[in-house]
Amino acid sequence: MKPRIAVFASGNGSNFEAIAQACADGRINADVALCVTDRPGAFVVERARRFGVPTVEFRPKDYASKADFEKMLLEHLRRENVELICLAGYMRIIGDVLLQAYEGRIINIHPSLLPAFRGADAIGQAMDYGVKIYGITIHFVDSSLDGGKIIAQRAVAYEGKDREELETMIHEREHELYPEVVARLLEGGI
Ligand code: GRF
Repeated sequence: MKPRIAVFASGNGSNFEAIAQACADGRINADVALCVTDRPGAFVVERARRFGVPTVEFRPKDYASKADFEKMLLEHLRRENVELICLAGYMRIIGDVLLQAYEGRIINIHPSLLPAFRGADAIGQAMDYGVKIYGITIHFVDSSLDGGKIIAQRAVAYEGKDREELETMIHEREHELYPEVVARLLEGGI
């Protein structure tokens, strides 16, 4: 059986789609078994439906604690035999329940050259700072905010002021790099 991946996303889900498409056409030798979102109705749910991937939609406020909803997620992940969790625009810090169960098997993509510009709106933070070399980072997840060990990075040089144009360039890079890294990781090359 192929390795099984879960993708966690809170919004648009373009990186979900990049990974699901790479699995579908064989660039990643794995199946996306599950989509998880903490924002019911987010566009990623529609993308998952198109790929025939089941989605777990939940509202964190319906649970007494992070540990409680992570236990619920863990049941789904185990039932689906998920080996690797890819965070892709999932706007929450992963807690102990998932970190312990999936130690070294949770990765994230972040739209900056970490350790610069951690947290939300990294692209906006970098623009405000006036940087000229933007970029993306894929890293292992630990309990810190965007702080785990770095796996791969790509620089994106941009000196303009058009945020939309910059975001498009960054997302294109993300959609290339994330599937490449997932493939390498599953092949044991990382
Ligand atoms: C990406 O820029 C990713 O780096 C960041 O959140 C964004 C998610 O975009 N963590 P999408 O939902 O995959 O389109």
